This record gives sequence, structure tokens and C-alpha cells, in this order.
Amino acid sequence: MKIAENLYYVGVNDRHKTLFENMLPLPYGVSYNSYLLVDDKVVLIDTVEAPFAEQQLEEIQRILNGRVVDYLIVNHMEPDHSSGIHALRMLYPQVQIVGNARTMSMLQGYYGISDGLYEVKENSELALGKHTLRFYMTPMVHWPEVMMTYDVEHHILFSADAFGCFGTLDGGILDTQVNLEMFWDEMYRYYANIIGKYGNPVQAALKKISDLSLDMICSTHGPVWTEHRAEALSLYDRLSRYEGEAGVVIVYGSMYGYTEKMAEAVARGAGEICKNVLLYDVSKTDSSILVGDIFRYKGLILGSPTYCNDLFPPMKSLLDKLEIRGLKNRVFGAFGSYTWAGAAVKGFVAFSERMKWETPPTVEVKQAMIPTDYEALVELGRTIAKQI
Ligand code: FEO
Repeated sequence: MKIAENLYYVGVNDRHKTLFENMLPLPYGVSYNSYLLVDDKVVLIDTVEAPFAEQQLEEIQRILNGRVVDYLIVNHMEPDHSSGIHALRMLYPQVQIVGNARTMSMLQGYYGISDGLYEVKENSELALGKHTLRFYMTPMVHWPEVMMTYDVEHHILFSADAFGCFGTLDGGILDTQVNLEMFWDEMYRYYANIIGKYGNPVQAALKKISDLSLDMICSTHGPVWTEHRAEALSLYDRLSRYEGEAGVVIVYGSMYGYTEKMAEAVARGAGEICKNVLLYDVSKTDSSILVGDIFRYKGLILGSPTYCNDLFPPMKSLLDKLEIRGLKNRVFGAFGSYTWAGAAVKGFVAFSERMKWETPPTVEVKQAMIPTDYEALVELGRTIAKQI
């Protein structure tokens, strides 16, 4: 599909994969986006995952009608975008692979490729005819070799994973051609789980591109941003500053329902102050959804029973996912229960110390809660909701 002058979308939709990175569910699938710029020189910007390479190459051959691909720009080496390189080189053996020094080392390491390479640096330019491409190094958005490619005359940014989201492109490609509701939700989940750890590098990348005129942002996943590009930029800016929206996420673990009742009381209290209260059972809801919402909202209240003198294991696993992503700036509260020796609340306090958050208000209940516990839990919910 032609999306701008001389520019074609040649990505693919993956509705087969159930887990992205073999971890993150894909209820709406995912697209691997790739773009073909047909000028005096022909440039492909990123490939697709290997199982889809043949499909992509058929499309490229149809568009090129006998011409060949002169350059492949590798903005990102993660295999969902680079494992199609072998198939491309089989069809176009003369293609020059454009990347930075880190890309070159990964091309050798992953695919044994050491020839046909064209190395670029910060602000290097590649003249193609009507289009000039300029390269900006944006390491750690999401891997260290990541760069963005800017079409100087046409104000188009090829942004690698940045501004991407899960979800296949069912018919439309541009943001003006699709219903964006699902894509916005999936952008939060994508950002938090894939890019979430790298807030500072994302801020550095945003600063670097802030002076560019941008008419179109072409990510490697999800819709091409045109009319809604400012919203996509602003969402990334907020998330990478760990600036939560007004809302409280409550996640609890519960084996027999006693801690769940405590969570309901907390939610009542939060709900008196705030409409955006999301209450989740950690054992039922996929952690990628939890991590996505916890990155999105400022208030966080976690609850757990004591298990083997520790936190409930699924809750422990969620804390680990938040900790490795270095989530910052949350208004945090916690509650816990136990039968003969309490450890859950201690576990949450230790977690908040490791995260360098303020010591949370907590409520601890022995066995089943009594009316005074109920009141304390409602108050915990109110306390957090008032601070967001
Ligand atoms: Fe879509 Fe970081 O790869």
C-alpha cells in the first residue's frame, strides 16, 4: 500500500503467534512494519520476522517490477525485524545493509553477515534522489543499536519500536484509517512491557527528535501515525517520565477469598474519591495487562496473603516484573493477611524500599477481617486515591 510519495507499506500481520517474546499474550495479533522507498535508489527500511519474509518479498517484487533493492536500513536488530535479512539477501545479493557500528556487530553475531555493509553515524545522510535519509542514534529504545531514520524532505520518521503497539493492521495502515481504541490500550501494554525500563533513553530520543518537523511517524509495530502523531509523542513523553494518570490500580492475591474481600474494601475507599479504580486478581489476569495499567496510573495498592513466610508467589512474580523495569513515582499502599505469622506486609515494605518509593501505608489482618479491619482498609483506599 502506498502511504506517501514514493513510499510503500510492505509490512505483515502476525495472527499466528500467541505470545510475543514468548511471554506477552497477543489477543489482537501484531504487525511487523516495513517500508519501501522507491526513488532513484530503492530502500527497504527494516525487514519482517523470517516466517513472513517470502510474503514480504513477493509484495516488494510486485511493487518494484524488476528493479532491485539497493539499501536495507536496519533501524533495529531484534529478530522480529531482522530475521528476514537472509531471505532478502538471497533475492538481492548486492543489497547494502545500512546500520551503525553496533548493528554491524549484531549482524555478524546473529547472522554471520560481514560483507555488503554500509556504516552510518549520528547525522549521517544517504541521498537517494528526491529523498535524503538522515540517521539519529537512539540507543536503548529498545536495544543498544537502535537508530531512527528521518526523511529530510518529506518529514517522515522511521522510528523503530518507538510509538509502536500490538494489534494487527486489519485493512487500514494509517491512524486515520483504523479504529484506534484498541491500539491506544495496546500501546500502554507494549510500552510498559517492552520499553518500560528505558525511560531515560526514551526521553533522550524524544529530545533529539523534538526539533524535527514530523508529518508522519512510521513505527515497526501498529498504525502509521499522521493526524494523531502528537498524541503518540505525548503518550511516550508521559510514560517515559513515569508520570501516571489519575487512577488507582489494586492488585491482590487470594487463595480462599479472605484477601479478596480486603481488596474490595480498599476499592470501596478509593472509589469514593476516584472513578478510575481497577481491581485485579493477580492469579487470573495476565501480568502484561497488570504491568501496562500500573505504568499507566499513578496510584498502586497491592495485597497478598502470607505464603511460606513470604508473599504469595504470583504477587512476588509481579513485584519482580515491576522491579526489573525500574518503575518510578507511584503512590503506593499495601495490605496483607496471615494465619499464624505475617510476612506479606513486610514483603511489600521491602519492595517499596528497593524501588526507592516512600514507605507505604499498610493494613495487616490476621485470618478473617473484623469490622475495624474493614474500616482501616477503606481508609487505605481513600488515602491513596486522595494523593493521585
Ligand atoms: Fe519489535 Fe524491539 O522489536
